Amino acid sequence: MSAATAAMARAAALLAGAVAVSAAVRNAGAAAAGVSVLPVSLPGSVAAIPTWDVQSSAKITQDPAGLSKPGAVPPSSSDSWYHAPVSRCTVMGCLLEAGVYNDSDLFFSDHMAAIDKKQFQVPWLYRSEFALPGAATNTSSSTHYLLETNGITSRADIYVNGQQVADKATQSGAYGGHVYDVTALVAAGGGDNTSNGIVVRAYPTDYLKDFAIGFVDWNPYPPDNGTGVWRNMTLRQTGSVTIESFSVVANFTPPAAGAASTTTGSNGVVTIKARVRNLDKSGSVSFVAEADVTGGDGSAAAVTAKAAPPTTLAAGQVTLVTLTAAVASPAVWWPRQWGGQPLYKAQLRVSTGGGSSAATLSDTASKSFGFRQVSSVVSSADDILFSVNGRPFQVLGGGYTPDVFLRWDAARFEAHARYTLDMGLNTIRLEGKMEQPELYDVTDRLGLMVLPGWECCDKWEAWTYNDNLPTPVPVWSDADYATANASMRHEAGMQQSHPSLLGFLVGSDFWPNDRATGIYTAALADAGWQAPVVASAAKAGYSKALGPGGMKMPGPYDWVPPNYWYDFDPQAASDDDRYGAAFGFGSEQGPGGGTPALSSLRRFLSAADLDDLWRSPGKGLYHMSTAESSFHNRSIFNTALWQRYGAPRSLDDYLLKTQMADYEATRAEFEAFAANWAPATAASSKARPATGLIYWMLNGAWPALHWALFDYYMHPAGAYYGVKAATGSRSLEHLVYDYVHKSVVLVNRSQNVTGARTVRAELISALDGKVLGNTTTTTSDKLQSTPNTSHTVLASVPGIASIADVALLRLTLFEGSSPTGEPLDRNVYWLSAGLDTLDWESSSWYCTPVSKYASLQALDRLPAANVTATVTATVGGRKTVVLENRSAAPAVFVSLDLVDAAGADVVPVTWSDNYVTLFPYETLALTVEELAPQLGMRAAVGTAVQLSGKNVAAATLAL
Ligand SMILES: *[C@@H]1O[C@H](CO)[C@@H](O)[C@H](O)[C@H]1NC(C)=O
Ligand SMILES: *[C@@H]1O[C@H](CO)[C@@H](O)[C@H](O)[C@H]1NC(C)=O
Ligand SMILES: *[C@@H]1O[C@H](CO)[C@@H](O)[C@H](O)[C@H]1NC(C)=O
Ligand SMILES: *[C@@H]1O[C@H](CO)[C@@H](O)[C@H](O)[C@H]1NC(C)=O
Repeated sequence: MSAATAAMARAAALLAGAVAVSAAVRNAGAAAAGVSVLPVSLPGSVAAIPTWDVQSSAKITQDPAGLSKPGAVPPSSSDSWYHAPVSRCTVMGCLLEAGVYNDSDLFFSDHMAAIDKKQFQVPWLYRSEFALPGAATNTSSSTHYLLETNGITSRADIYVNGQQVADKATQSGAYGGHVYDVTALVAAGGGDNTSNGIVVRAYPTDYLKDFAIGFVDWNPYPPDNGTGVWRNMTLRQTGSVTIESFSVVANFTPPAAGAASTTTGSNGVVTIKARVRNLDKSGSVSFVAEADVTGGDGSAAAVTAKAAPPTTLAAGQVTLVTLTAAVASPAVWWPRQWGGQPLYKAQLRVSTGGGSSAATLSDTASKSFGFRQVSSVVSSADDILFSVNGRPFQVLGGGYTPDVFLRWDAARFEAHARYTLDMGLNTIRLEGKMEQPELYDVTDRLGLMVLPGWECCDKWEAWTYNDNLPTPVPVWSDADYATANASMRHEAGMQQSHPSLLGFLVGSDFWPNDRATGIYTAALADAGWQAPVVASAAKAGYSKALGPGGMKMPGPYDWVPPNYWYDFDPQAASDDDRYGAAFGFGSEQGPGGGTPALSSLRRFLSAADLDDLWRSPGKGLYHMSTAESSFHNRSIFNTALWQRYGAPRSLDDYLLKTQMADYEATRAEFEAFAANWAPATAASSKARPATGLIYWMLNGAWPALHWALFDYYMHPAGAYYGVKAATGSRSLEHLVYDYVHKSVVLVNRSQNVTGARTVRAELISALDGKVLGNTTTTTSDKLQSTPNTSHTVLASVPGIASIADVALLRLTLFEGSSPTGEPLDRNVYWLSAGLDTLDWESSSWYCTPVSKYASLQALDRLPAANVTATVTATVGGRKTVVLENRSAAPAVFVSLDLVDAAGADVVPVTWSDNYVTLFPYETLALTVEELAPQLGMRAAVGTAVQLSGKNVAAATLAL
């Protein structure tokens, strides 16, 4: 039996099992006041159980079956339950919703450590009551109700109206989605008077033994280990013939390289494959299937896939139906940096009752999809290169994490996604954090690529060859393989049609063994998966079936100096002794930074904690990684900061220095990868181009002191603007200074921008403004700006050798062959007299130490600069703020914060640029926009801008 057939047989057994529980339990008791009537009255309609009451099984004496009867918890005793007015929440998430805890308190200082974890070592009960209005139309086929789960952590028993529907052997794993036919158990059609009861007994979670959603060493574990109904449980109505699953596969020929990205593709064919089942026990039924494909976003495709000829299904029988529709000139879906995001929709209908005129709708389902192609190749040096729509695609992204309590907020996620794009990044990686289905709708709409996959360091990677787990390794049982199979099938089915998917990583630090690989790949293939499947995010090994994954994971995860990324020979074929340096595909790495700004720190640190930050630089901190982790303190970062920027004199001084260090560190990493991207030129001299980088991480699951490009409260600071500077996100063309080779590289991340460019490099001494070097060059014919590649435009920057203490380097890029007009790009560095000396031989899995630090301490002696700020324009919600440096001294690291009338931070916010350094007498225009109004979020309104800088007096500008 193939894996696919086995899964089908198992699914059939589930349905049959549920139907077999056919005791006469139709309950027509009166619904308690306030019982929700689910809007489920048409074939294909589906609704989530909208709210839950939760309680520990230690506090409830009734058996769960009895409890699941409507009215089993009379209003008089309902006070002993916690009421969570949401359709999905982990136990902790429910308790937060119910007001038992609140997160401003929990996240403050070390308060979360005080929660009694023992209370979560027993099962918790979820209970709800709901009414079903009954079938709205008189259908000739019978009406069925399906209860669908989308994963319950760690596993669950489910009861409906006094009967057990599922047990924990089947309903297992955070991603184990199953469908149970509860038709014989539920009451419907009695209007508001008919109640149904449901109880879920969710079992406690141990990350080493259960398929859950863990955080490894990233942050403290949630006290409940994420146990509970974290995703919706839904009721679905269908006729006798139901669509169990379906996939939408879009094939087409993308426009040739060089064509405008608005050009349509050709030969569009949409294939819809469905698994269809006859739920009736009583007899055979014949059905027809047809599908409509319609274009969203103005893309005009309205075609109907031809109806499959009537098929007859015996009682309980399953069949596969395939329909195709031709779409002429499909509008092509692009990642944001390359074009638009046109989306299409495929709606599938199955009808019973003979010829189509007499047919009665039995079930319907739809999926949104796009025309985009993703592929990958792995080079002989074991580096993966992705392509999107036939164009080589350099992945630049970050590791995304959900909230520590897995709370989903669509507007909040969209703000994260917009920040990611605003930084000029194009991808998020989800390491075992597949979130809610809504995530993929946002990424499709915004053009942000997603790299999902399974997580490391726990049950998901409990292989005999995984030496990073406690021994004895809890290797998988047959039941575990079944859970993995259900999980992969569910996630693949949910994600499959989304054009924002870039691939699926079936392993992270380790690769799945052959049996698991077979299960995963069969599940993905059955789901119509169209993107690459990668064995692992690391080079530890791979299964034969998938081959090498082409991603590297050698660190760093903690601070390294800017020259780290460039310190290798780009001509050398093998540079694996250079770890995370800018070649190949780094699947999770970075210099560790991401210190929140003071406005955010005050929300979660006590005065004593704030003191620790700069007075006890080696101390273990609760808001870092867990105490067992190598990242529990900030000592690597702080040692470098003390040496390079000078011992901090105050908290403010420390925080300013951390922002400078973070900016310098993230910019260097992203710039080095961008500068070593050169797949498009056959003449590339790079033996191992940099094909991708996932920064570790994008965001934090809670208010953390490191590893994020923006903090939990969404205040973008140094790490954020370092990345934004590195991508030249304004024009997709950017000048990069290579710290090691002392050269300037022009990066062009567009698909279609070409032409001559003029490059200016100006180097001045930071303390006295003396010009150390000044050169202006126009690109030669051979070195014009070329789409989707990078090349060196200045072999050396004059004056670098004469830096005495600290110098400022300004790189400016102009369109055409003279330095005129508004620059396309501008980038300023603060540079020391020498580079940090790396001790490569002493590298660990998380860091390469520095044996001699460079000094930037002269920055503490900068003369004061006088900077004015003026609001010059307001267009829509976007304001322009012009900064003018009125002094002969440079103005270093000038930041602007949007605040409300009370001086509180206004977030989410995007600035065109921030933490800018102005040369003497330079003027810079920046724009600022609040995101909350666009996203429908509640937030303070900006009324002023606070300005500060390294050598600039703090000031406030009213808007
Ligand atoms: C989950 O349920 C909520 C509440 O009914 C609903 O708003 C949301 O769209 C549902 N999401 C999914 C993916 O079912
Ligand atoms: C959470 O999982 C860890 C193992 O990763 C385990 O040691 C701990 O006991 C679990 N906590 C609860 C509340 O079950
Ligand atoms: C270049 O591509 C962008 C999309 O990335 C598009 O908006 C623009 O119109 C294109 N320009 C030309 C000249 O094709
Ligand atoms: C560099 O030279 C250009 C062209 O002569 C000049 O406009 C610019 O002001 C100079 N830059 C500095 C920092 O002196």
